[in-house]
Amino acid sequence: HHIQWDVQAAQKGGYKHFMLKEIFEQPRVITDCMTGRVDWQRKEVSLPELDALPVPRRLHIVACGTSYHAGMWGRHLLENWAQIPVNVEIASEFRYRNPILDPDDVILVISQSGETADTLAGLRIARERGIRVIGLCNVVGSSIARESDTVIYTQAGPEISVASTKAMCSQMTVLTLMALAWGKRKGCLADDILQNAVTGLSKLPGQLEMELPRMRSEAQSIARQYSSARSFFFLGRGQCYPLALEGALKLKEISYIHAEGYASGEMKHGPIALIDPAFPTFALALSDGLYSKVKSNLEEVQARSGKIIALANPGHDLNVDHTWIIPEAWGPLGSFLALPALQLFSYEAADYLGKDVDQPRNLAKSVTVE
Ligand code: G6P
Repeated sequence: HHIQWDVQAAQKGGYKHFMLKEIFEQPRVITDCMTGRVDWQRKEVSLPELDALPVPRRLHIVACGTSYHAGMWGRHLLENWAQIPVNVEIASEFRYRNPILDPDDVILVISQSGETADTLAGLRIARERGIRVIGLCNVVGSSIARESDTVIYTQAGPEISVASTKAMCSQMTVLTLMALAWGKRKGCLADDILQNAVTGLSKLPGQLEMELPRMRSEAQSIARQYSSARSFFFLGRGQCYPLALEGALKLKEISYIHAEGYASGEMKHGPIALIDPAFPTFALALSDGLYSKVKSNLEEVQARSGKIIALANPGHDLNVDHTWIIPEAWGPLGSFLALPALQLFSYEAADYLGKDVDQPRNLAKSVTVE
């Protein structure tokens, strides 16, 4: 009797797709990302890679796709905690603009693969102009890692699925640590924020680990109910706005359902005209400082007979078609629990529709040509 050996199946570790495996790896990814960077006893954060550099006066984050969304997300923390003005830009735009760069500015390029052509071109422009480049990469020894002045690795392990999942989680983790480390060094970070952030970070992997199976079954049932929709809105505000963009991108990439990510507050300036009972909205309505604003934006959508699925925390008072409750985490760390919900929703929709989840049509894992 011979055992059939299928290398791919073995690598998938029992999961149906690499994407699903990588989504479920995120608790470990967060842990690995923090190893050697967070001192849990003393509640301190340090990124040794950055120790030799001054805190940037101004930061330009340059990236594509999912990595760009991570950069948008990180901007909030870098501004709030480290008081660094941040400009976030898509690499294909940055490279053909004439960006005003000061000699003291720093460019942060974010790339999972480290090979994305536009991002690499952005890096080279900065270097030609004598601007310091920090690379945030996953693939060790990649072009972007080699050409950056300083490289920080995300330590997420190989990502096989074309649609990026765990890489974004790892980028968000490092950006959080960067904002804390720089904020502390500049002396502008309140002690209680640092304490709360470190405590919150320490709880994240366990919280996520516990929640993922339940999240998956919730994603499955909602995806089945809604995957006949032709279009979706993904709405969020503040730190949840980049997550809305990412939720929409994931759905487009693997299920081929049209989706638009929008800032909730911008809906009334045009997009709300599209709302009807067949055009559902996936809303991020976490219990953060903008909850009541999001809630009233959603009421406007409901007034146009739009169906709403809302990702919310316990204690919410929404009255929508479907509320998907996820556990709360401290402050901006709630995003680490919302992101996998969005990823799983797209995954389950694509799988239900019978799409090739790991190898979506027309897409490549790393885009090395312009
Ligand atoms: C491709 C991938 C995306 C990825 C983007 C940026 O489009 O399909 O998943 O987000 O490239 O890739 P990078 O390796 O630079 O993060």
